Amino acid sequence: MNRIAPYVTPLIPAFVVIGFFVWFANWIPQTRWQPPQKQQISTALTPAELAQIGQTIVRQRGCLACHTIEPGAGVKGGGRGPNLAGIASRRAQGVKGGPENLVDYLAQALYEPGAYLVEGYANIMPSSTGAPAALGYEEVVAVIAYLQSLGKTPTVKVGDVAKPTSVKSASPSAKPAAVGAQAADPAALFASLGCDACHSLKAGETKVGPALDAPSLKQAAAERKMSFEAFLMESIVNPKAYEKKGVPSGVMPQDYGTRMNAAQLDALVRYLAAQGKQP
Ligand code: HEC
Ligand code: HEC
Repeated sequence: MNRIAPYVTPLIPAFVVIGFFVWFANWIPQTRWQPPQKQQISTALTPAELAQIGQTIVRQRGCLACHTIEPGAGVKGGGRGPNLAGIASRRAQGVKGGPENLVDYLAQALYEPGAYLVEGYANIMPSSTGAPAALGYEEVVAVIAYLQSLGKTPTVKVGDVAKPTSVKSASPSAKPAAVGAQAADPAALFASLGCDACHSLKAGETKVGPALDAPSLKQAAAERKMSFEAFLMESIVNPKAYEKKGVPSGVMPQDYGTRMNAAQLDALVRYLAAQGKQP
C-alpha cells in the first residue's frame, strides 16, 4: 500500500474530474422523459460489447418490472416473470418441443413470449418488438448476448439471430394470447379492472391514488428515470416498485400483471400515455 500510494496520490484530481464527467454524461439523458433513443448498434461489435449494451436495454426498457436477476434464487426468483439469473445454462438445449438451442430459444422468448410458456407463469409478457420495450432487431441481438452472459459466454453477433418474421413458432403447444372481448377497449378495461375507483384521468383530481394525467405521469417517469411507457407498465404490474408520495402506500392491487394478457396491458399503457394529449 505504502509503495503504491506515492504513484496514486497525484492522480486523485484526475479521477475526480473523470468521475464528474462520467456522472454528468449519465445524468443528462435521465432528466428527460422521452423514450430512450434507439441505440446505434454496429455489426462490428463483439458479443461481449453487445452484452453490455443489452444489459442497459434490459434495465431501461421495463424488463425488470417483471423479471429479477438474482443468482441463487431459483427460477421463481421474486418477480412476476422467471428469474433470469443463469438462464444461459438452464436453457442451453432450448426447451422441449420448441427451439433446441439457447439462441433460437431466446429469440422466440423475445419475439413471441406466448409460444412457449415457462411452467408456473401466465402469458403476460408482451413481445419485445412491440410496446413498451419496442426493441429493434440489433437491440434484440444485444439483449440475447446479455442473456447469454447470464451463465455462459456471449457468442452472438448482429446477423446471427433470426429476424422477427423468420422465427418459427416451434412449440406445438403454442397458443395465441387469450384476448378478451375488452382488449380493444382500454376505457372499458380501466373501469372493469377497478382503476377508476382509485384514479381520475383529470389533472389534480386525487381519489385514493394520484390523477393519471399525462403531464404528471411523465414527471413521475422522469423521477423514476424510465421511459414513459416502461414506467406506465411498471406502475400497473408492479406498483410497489415506485410509490408516489402523499398518497396511501401499498393499496393498489399487486396482481394486475396476472389479470391481463399482453394485448390488454399494451392497450391500457397506450390509453394512459395518450391522456392529456391535445385533441
Ligand atoms: C409484464 C411482465 C413481463 C415483462 C415486461 C417482460 N417479461 Fe419476460 N417473461 C414474463 C413471464 C411471465 C415469462 C414466463 C412466461 C412465458 O414464458 O412467456 C417471461 C419469460 C421470459 C423469458 C424466458 C425465461 C425462461 O426461463 O425460459 C425471457 C428470456 C424473458 N422473459 C426476457 C424478457 C426481456 C428481455 C424483457 C424486456 C425486453 C422481458 N422479458 C419483459 C414476464 C415479462
Ligand atoms: C385500490 C386503489 C387503486 C386501484 C384499484 C388502482 N390503483 Fe393505481 N395507484 C393507487 C395508489 C394509491 C397509487 C400511488 C402509490 C403507488 O404508486 O403505488 C397508484 C399509482 C398508480 C400509477 C402511478 C402514478 C404516479 O403518478 O406515480 C399508475 C400509472 C396507476 N396507479 C395505474 C393504475 C391502473 C391502470 C389501474 C387499474 C388497472 C390502477 N392503477 C388501479 C391506487 C390504486
